[in-house]
Amino acid sequence: MGHIFLIGMPGSGKTTIGSALAKKMNLATIDLDYEIEKHEGVSISTIFKNKGEVYFRDLEAEVLREVIKLSVPHIISTGGGAPCFHDNLAKILDSGTSIYLSLKPETLYRRHGKKAQNRPLLTGLEGEALYEELLSKLKKRGPFYERAQIIIPCDGKNIPEITQEIYERLLKEQAKS
Ligand code: S3P
Repeated sequence: MGHIFLIGMPGSGKTTIGSALAKKMNLATIDLDYEIEKHEGVSISTIFKNKGEVYFRDLEAEVLREVIKLSVPHIISTGGGAPCFHDNLAKILDSGTSIYLSLKPETLYRRHGKKAQNRPLLTGLEGEALYEELLSKLKKRGPFYERAQIIIPCDGKNIPEITQEIYERLLKEQAKS
């Protein structure tokens, strides 16, 4: 068994679902953004502010490659942009099972509240502008996310329901292989 990757838009619940799934499957979990912060010793927002997005994307690809090398299977929660830069998606597809936590833009908008906080690419956006940005990102990123082996529509479901659905789909995938 390879790693299990959770991919999807910011606010789709990758970290939370990652922890719940890890518990259920008795696997260790890794949050890619947290690993990046550990590597740099500062927050993601600070990396974006001081070094810019290109630097962040290079680092993200490097940390993803390192994490993939772990011989023990992990549940890996990725940052929203991770599958869309460099050859990250190919690496993810090659190294285990990928799961796209899919949400409608309306749901993402509601989750981000009136104002997106702690998310450098959404900082300062609210109301209509925030909704438009989420919509545009979803349009650009959808084709990457949709290449995941498993797609879970998450609107209207709670964490235990989503976790259970992923678990059952993983069992089915395993039975196929
Ligand atoms: C990003 C999403 C963030 C983080 C960085 C860039 C993006 O992760 O990696 O701020 O490009 O969508 P989350 O999806 O966990 O918010």
